[in-house]
Amino acid sequence: MLAFLGFEHVVKTARTHLVYCCCISSLIVICITIWACPESLRPIARSTALLDELPAEVPALVHYTHNQGNTSAVIVPDQGNTSVQIVPEQQPDSASDELSCAGKRIYMYDLPPAFNFALLEHCRYDLVKWIDFCPHMQNYGFGQVVNSTDAIFAEDWYGTDAYMLEVIFQARLQKYKCLTHSRTDADAFFIPFFTGLDALPYLYTNKSLTEMQGPELVRWLQENATDSWQRHGGHDHFLVAGRTAWDFSRPLESNRENWGTSLLVLPELVNITAFTLESRTWAATDQAVPYPTGFHPATAASLRRWTEQVRTVSRQYLFAFSGALRPGMTTSIRNELYNQCVNATTRCSLLDCSKIKCSHNPEPIYSALLRAEFCLQPRGDTATRRSVFDSIIAGCIPVLFHEDTAYTQYSWHLPITEPEKFSVFIPEEGIKNGSILVEEVLKSYSQTRIRQMREELITLIPASIYRHPSSEDAELTEKFRDAFDLSVDSMLKKVASFKSHPSTTG
Ligand SMILES: *[C@@H]1O[C@H](CO)[C@@H](O)[C@H](O)[C@H]1NC(C)=O
Ligand SMILES: *[C@@H]1O[C@H](CO)[C@@H](O)[C@H](O)[C@H]1NC(C)=O
Ligand SMILES: *[C@@H]1O[C@H](CO)[C@@H](O)[C@H](O)[C@H]1NC(C)=O
Ligand SMILES: *[C@@H]1O[C@H](CO)[C@@H](O)[C@H](O)[C@H]1NC(C)=O
Ligand SMILES: *[C@@H]1O[C@H](CO)[C@@H](O)[C@H](O)[C@H]1NC(C)=O
Ligand SMILES: *[C@@H]1O[C@H](CO)[C@@H](O)[C@H](O)[C@H]1NC(C)=O
Ligand SMILES: *[C@@H]1O[C@H](CO)[C@@H](O)[C@H](O)[C@H]1NC(C)=O
Ligand SMILES: *[C@@H]1O[C@H](CO)[C@@H](O)[C@H](O)[C@H]1NC(C)=O
Repeated sequence: MLAFLGFEHVVKTARTHLVYCCCISSLIVICITIWACPESLRPIARSTALLDELPAEVPALVHYTHNQGNTSAVIVPDQGNTSVQIVPEQQPDSASDELSCAGKRIYMYDLPPAFNFALLEHCRYDLVKWIDFCPHMQNYGFGQVVNSTDAIFAEDWYGTDAYMLEVIFQARLQKYKCLTHSRTDADAFFIPFFTGLDALPYLYTNKSLTEMQGPELVRWLQENATDSWQRHGGHDHFLVAGRTAWDFSRPLESNRENWGTSLLVLPELVNITAFTLESRTWAATDQAVPYPTGFHPATAASLRRWTEQVRTVSRQYLFAFSGALRPGMTTSIRNELYNQCVNATTRCSLLDCSKIKCSHNPEPIYSALLRAEFCLQPRGDTATRRSVFDSIIAGCIPVLFHEDTAYTQYSWHLPITEPEKFSVFIPEEGIKNGSILVEEVLKSYSQTRIRQMREELITLIPASIYRHPSSEDAELTEKFRDAFDLSVDSMLKKVASFKSHPSTTG
């Protein structure tokens, strides 16, 4: 059968099935799934213990492509369709790029798909019984298009899931203008591992296997990247995890019942930089990057239209509070803020996400944020919140209650050394002990000051978004540095600084 169909390349196996791919052209590869892999055809042993426990019947939902001999291709999963679009890889190293790419060349490892795209095949209730992320990985990881009748949300808005950061980054790197195919020329190395998706079964299905996340990647790097890996001890390598660093930093010797895999504390990986949604603030190798929100402009005009909306919309509320209460969490100040918001009556807008569906629908959230001058951002399950970036994008001045919600996190994206420029800080303790009324604090800000702060937020919008990877609009791609651009620029600076002073950089 294989000979008949002329399949060329096994791109992924688990014990339950095989995926064969065949090249139709240099850019399009079609893959099919064959069930029941014979033992002898099991080349990639990665996480097989876990993959074995997954349902044998993988729905034929996801069709990823793998551009052979190249770094992995980007998928645009398309339900019920075997043809997929892929983002063609940027062709690097043309003569004109020689100068402009100096110091900026990135090599993306050609990891087996089991580390990335093959995980997407298990999007529907496979990696975790109650999670179906099939809709979220569509459109380069932006999720489903928002079908709004409201003109403001009619273009470039998606129901984005923040966990798709890994897919979003991969799509952008694929189009990065200084990608190189030469490890010798590379200034930095990207490991295209879908770290957070890979962690799902370890985190939620069988905790006794958490130490299994990582060793296979280490083995692959040791065997297949010896030269580039050893050159700078991994300091010039980076990967992306669309979760908090806490999910990957359980000390190796600690109780397995404690939360997290140990990926980021493996001795072999300690020097690589991990872009996460929330960093361990003391770890020099952790770098927090903005949570993906629902806005992914494809043109500068679209970005400008939104900015104009943010600047001119009339905001009838002094402040807004959104999010679920945490009744069982005694350290949380959400209940106090909720009460303060109710007490402030017409000055506070309360967005109750238990009453409306807002988890993958930016429209109600942004409609509320656009109506308020200030937005309260207490800690949630962890210190950071995606809502901080929603606030910035909506020009609603974030009111923070803990340093770790932003000031100790986003050093590459926000002016954290001058926090008063873009945010208000109220210590949690003051809310807890009842000595501070949010309304009183916010009332003291003049209209002039509020306008200044909003202009500052407007300058931060590009840094807080992930623009569309296929944008051909030179104004957008060259004039604005988005969250991805700033992450890569800063990583390259960090690497350069390490290379010039290897002993002083963490
Ligand atoms: C990668 O793919 C491009 C076409 O997309 C092709 O021109 C190039 O030669 C490929 N690189 C390798 C190393 O196969
Ligand atoms: C499948 O993809 C092709 C090419 O992109 C498109 O023309 C066709 O409408 C798609 N079919 C479905 C059912 O989406
Ligand atoms: C919006 O419409 C498109 C095309 O009809 C559909 O594929 C998509 O699922 C819709 N989005 C949502 C969030 O329902
Ligand atoms: C978890 O994995 C271990 C090791 O494979 C196995 O012994 C155990 O039965 C599994 N536990 C559950 C709840 O599946
Ligand atoms: C090294 O790469 C090759 C080709 O992708 C693969 O077959 C091999 O298993 C890799 N080594 C390890 C340890 O994964
Ligand atoms: C990590 O970096 C330190 C200091 O630069 C170096 O001594 C060590 O060998 C590196 N670790 C690995 C696994 O390469
Ligand atoms: C809300 O107002 C009531 C009555 O004015 C007052 O007793 C209560 O302490 C206030 N609660 C908060 C959280 O400000
Ligand atoms: C309440 O907390 C604030 C802020 O930390 C502090 O300044 C104030 O002294 C505290 N008041 C009481 C009564 O504990």
